[in-house]
Amino acid sequence: MSSTKPISLLVSITFFFSLLLSSSSAQSVVKASYWFPGSEYPVTDIDSSLFTHLFCAFADLNAQTNQVTIASASQQNFSTFTQTVQRRNPSVKTLLSIGGGNASKTAFASMASNPTSRKSFIDSSIRLARSNGFHGLDLDWEYPSSATEMSNFGTLLREWRSAVAAEASSSGRQRLLLAAAVFYSNNHYSVLYPVQAVADSLDWVNLMAYDFYGPGWSKVTGPPAALYDPSNAGPSGDAGVRSWTQAGLPAKKAVLGFPYYGYAWGLSNANSHSYYAATTGAAVTISGAAIPEDGSIRYGLIRKFIVDNGATPVYNSSVVGDYCYAGTTWIGYDDNQSIVTKVRYAKQRGLLGYFSWHVGADDNSGLSRAATRAWDAAATTRTIQKN
Ligand SMILES: *[C@@H]1O[C@H](CO)[C@@H](O)[C@H](O)[C@H]1NC(C)=O
Ligand SMILES: *[C@@H]1O[C@H](CO)[C@@H](O)[C@H](O)[C@H]1NC(C)=O
Ligand SMILES: *[C@@H]1O[C@H](CO)[C@@H](O)[C@H](O)[C@H]1NC(C)=O
Ligand SMILES: *[C@@H]1O[C@H](CO)[C@@H](O)[C@H](O)[C@H]1NC(C)=O
Repeated sequence: MSSTKPISLLVSITFFFSLLLSSSSAQSVVKASYWFPGSEYPVTDIDSSLFTHLFCAFADLNAQTNQVTIASASQQNFSTFTQTVQRRNPSVKTLLSIGGGNASKTAFASMASNPTSRKSFIDSSIRLARSNGFHGLDLDWEYPSSATEMSNFGTLLREWRSAVAAEASSSGRQRLLLAAAVFYSNNHYSVLYPVQAVADSLDWVNLMAYDFYGPGWSKVTGPPAALYDPSNAGPSGDAGVRSWTQAGLPAKKAVLGFPYYGYAWGLSNANSHSYYAATTGAAVTISGAAIPEDGSIRYGLIRKFIVDNGATPVYNSSVVGDYCYAGTTWIGYDDNQSIVTKVRYAKQRGLLGYFSWHVGADDNSGLSRAATRAWDAAATTRTIQKN
């Protein structure tokens, strides 16, 4: 019996040191959003006190040199991004995001396919992050789309992680954070992500749990970013989180994404405005809002549309999504209640946090304020104070 004491002491000492070690690099929470120049939202307007991390998007991959570059038009804003957002919140961390939905996926596939081009990508990304004052890097390759590309993606992540670790020890600086934005599900049209390489190499992954329905690819209305699909047949944030964690991603490495934009459809019949209603198959035009071809409309403009047109807003708690309609215009989106419910879900499932695309689409930071409050209020343990 007496021999158990030294063992338990050793166990607690080991536990104590492993806590110390992990706290030096592990993030305790991620409350994040993306900013990009095309949003025309001034960086100085970001209320960074509502975030722990901000992503500056996007740096580009040069398909000839396989190096990461910043477009000359963005250089000024990117190089001052960190100091600008740290004015309101000195502890906010910034990550330089590379790629994005508009980037060439074949350039990423080609870069990741051989060691020399991977090294160009990795070394240039680290130089760019350091010389522009970012705390980390985020890869948005949308998406590796064959078994070979997924395997190369995994190799790239492992090499990237060892390169940032080596750079940290040679420079004596804090290691750069590494993240990636990934498909909402671990299964991208039957091609599986290399979950072990993701879990071993990245600080976390951003699950893009949105764009499930849109007028560009759905002929009927639908929730663009449902947390649940009651029929369990279609995409949902919950299905995505379960697929990643069941495949072995620790919940503490998953960050749930939600959109600060919706999709606007033209209804075939103004009296038929529920989910799966027939549409004219095209995005509508809304006065006072420039709606691109894909029908996307930022949250701030959706609020304006509701007020200007007396639109009827509906919160659907079984899917966790909002929609509103006026005449033959129907918009699916996330309002406060959807965002708050998703944030609570993320905390209760033990996820690392949440992120949004994109900060400039919010309405006076209302969604971001609701989100951070919901996270803090959804504490899993409560301390009761006594006098
Ligand atoms: C992607 O391209 C679309 C269409 O040109 C543009 O509206 C959008 O701002 C671009 N996205 C980013 C992140 O630059
Ligand atoms: C980017 O920087 C330029 C030059 O400093 C500035 O005029 C512009 O407003 C910035 N754009 C955004 C979206 O912040
Ligand atoms: C909410 O969504 C579910 C699932 O699609 C649907 O059955 C229900 O009718 C919806 N309720 C409202 C008010 O839209
Ligand atoms: C959403 O929540 C924020 C923060 O509490 C609040 O400022 C805003 O007015 C709310 N918006 C709506 C539409 O309820």
